[in-house]
Amino acid sequence: MRERRIYLASPHMSKQGFEKQYIDEAFKTNWISPLGPNVDLFEKELADYVGVSHAAALSSGTAAIHLALKSLGIREGDLVFCSSLTFAGSVNPVLYEKAIPVFIDSDSSSWNMSREALRKAYQVYPAPRALIVVNLYGQSADYDLIREIAGEHGTPIIEDAAESLGATYKGVQTGALGDIGIFSFNGNKIITTSGGGMLVCNDEEIVKKARFWATQAREAVPWYQHNEVGYNYRMSNICAGIGRGQLKVLEERIAKKKFIYELYQESFADIPEIRMMPVCDYGSPNYWLSCIILDRSCRLKPFDLISALAKENIESRPVWKPMHLQPVYADKPFFSSVEGGISAAEDIFNRGVCLPSDTKMTTGDIELVAGIIRQLFGKQ
Ligand SMILES: Cc1ncc(COP(=O)(O)O)c(C=O)c1O
Repeated sequence: MRERRIYLASPHMSKQGFEKQYIDEAFKTNWISPLGPNVDLFEKELADYVGVSHAAALSSGTAAIHLALKSLGIREGDLVFCSSLTFAGSVNPVLYEKAIPVFIDSDSSSWNMSREALRKAYQVYPAPRALIVVNLYGQSADYDLIREIAGEHGTPIIEDAAESLGATYKGVQTGALGDIGIFSFNGNKIITTSGGGMLVCNDEEIVKKARFWATQAREAVPWYQHNEVGYNYRMSNICAGIGRGQLKVLEERIAKKKFIYELYQESFADIPEIRMMPVCDYGSPNYWLSCIILDRSCRLKPFDLISALAKENIESRPVWKPMHLQPVYADKPFFSSVEGGISAAEDIFNRGVCLPSDTKMTTGDIELVAGIIRQLFGKQ
């Protein structure tokens, strides 16, 4: 087995050492706390990059979704429409507030939320309190369609841009497309703070309130006064320093992710049973993960590829298992985009594979991964 592991997506610090400079400054000045200059500046720099006026740096993307839901006043028994094909962190906060997720299928042309499934959901549940839309694997959902439908019902949109920092939709940065946007800086994301998240919004009051809840809902009086329940959700000044450094190399990371996607695409061009995850012409993805989907007629299944790569110490994964198929959410409503047969999300899960998309991969590494898969299809 090869000694050096090739990862799906792992942290990649700048070669210039930007992150270290910000951390060193924090050490020198003893700003080792969940507040400080790096936190303030990371919020400002990220908001400027995304094109929104305000941002709150938090401990995770999940925390950001939780506070976004709270700021929309989501309470017990409220309905929240959610993308089904996603990571659990997108949806779990709905349960934290004892609200009810209603799962919406994907569209096979984008893997993102389906307009048809969304319309069906509104026919049954015309008044959800919020809609959480995921930009899957670094590609924006189709917000013109989604906003049109949500707008007819007055539903606020939480844009789950955890995976899509730097991607655009019709020239607008993801994160700025809903009423509230959220990002994740978990270790596997396009840029990382080791763990962290950000809530972004043009409404200053929402962001101020998010910071308030994130610091245990401590009232602005000299003693410890708490009129409501709070959380310990703030990002530390050290993590924010890493984030500031990482932000400087975001464009470089996107370019490398795109290179990885395109090299896989080229490598599989002569294998009709393999298709890349579709790229929609309404925007430009950040290509966070390069995913493929195997043809229905293909004799090989995702785990044949995953096992062949694992033998060479190479990490790959199935596509997210849809939330409506998870035991914890099995009793929640789901609306399929498909009439009869399995849903688009389940179909993508059954046939999809996330390939290693680590920005530290060399061209040789990408060719090695592609070569192992090509061999399985009898190609040199
Ligand atoms: C789509 C999506 N939403 C939410 C999250 C949660 O973010 P975090 O891990 O920072 O809590 C993640 C990933 O981690 C994600 O991929």
